[in-house]
Amino acid sequence: MNILLADKLDAQAVDAFKQAGFILAVAKGLTASTLPPEADATEILIVRSTLVPKEVIAGFPALRLIIRAGAGTDTIDVAAAAARGIQVSNTPGRNADAVAEMALGLLLAADRHIPEGTRDLRAGKWTKTALGQGLGLKGRTLGLVGLGSIGHAMARKAQGLEMKVIAWSDHLTPAAAEEAGVGYSPSLLELARTSDAISVHVASTPATRNLLGAEFFAALRSGALFVNTARGEVVDRAALLDAIRNRGLHAGLDVFAGEPKTGEAPFADTELAALATCTPHLGASTDQASEAVAEEVVRIAMVYRETGKAPNSVAA
Ligand code: MLT
Repeated sequence: MNILLADKLDAQAVDAFKQAGFILAVAKGLTASTLPPEADATEILIVRSTLVPKEVIAGFPALRLIIRAGAGTDTIDVAAAAARGIQVSNTPGRNADAVAEMALGLLLAADRHIPEGTRDLRAGKWTKTALGQGLGLKGRTLGLVGLGSIGHAMARKAQGLEMKVIAWSDHLTPAAAEEAGVGYSPSLLELARTSDAISVHVASTPATRNLLGAEFFAALRSGALFVNTARGEVVDRAALLDAIRNRGLHAGLDVFAGEPKTGEAPFADTELAALATCTPHLGASTDQASEAVAEEVVRIAMVYRETGKAPNSVAA
């Protein structure tokens, strides 16, 4: 069976594929206009950051399965794949701890002004007075927008810091929140009103685009902390900028709307980056997560080869 690997995958997974007899080709920077010769025979396409719109899918006549080495599938035209009977799978939960660790890091860094302190010291400035104004996390309320595997991991870690954790999602029930050991918030606005800090953990879908807008930010206390390690598209950028500028919001951002889809590329939103503690979508980028994700990618391909049905199938 022919696999095309469009992004970097952990070396152990590459070895596992070879040992299992898969024919493996590698093509980085794949677009509809840069399809490699192997595209014709590819049955399984494996991607991480590479975009897979319908134009790319059209360039793979033998394609049967697309595997996203990550949780989100917003980079893939799942409907176009389904229309051709191509299965799409992801690796949910495998990078949850890594992303939650990043969210926690951004929360702490934004609250305690760690990047600004580093910047100032490197410039020979001792800004202890100006930067010494953290909210402090113990006993504060963290509101989770979304309670999937990453939200759960974030809840556990925040509780380790003795934060009170509450959550909202469009399908969360009081019973499910209780089972997860977090408080239940009946609405997004109620979550905003009752939180000192927010961490975003919802997938990017048409329903969540700009989910967090002006009303949400206006309901937050002034000086609140806001961390997004999910997707930039779920936040209304103008409302976020306004909250940072005019309501003292401290933002920690790992994700941005329209961010570059390759490892090294120019980044456009320097206006927002100048006002936030931020990282270039590194949430899932740990050795532990890479290994766990790659292991799952191999499992999906193996099960698909044996049964014709890929695990973790994502519906269009
Ligand atoms: C995910 O969707 O799981 C992450 O965004 C993966 C990544 O960083 O590529």
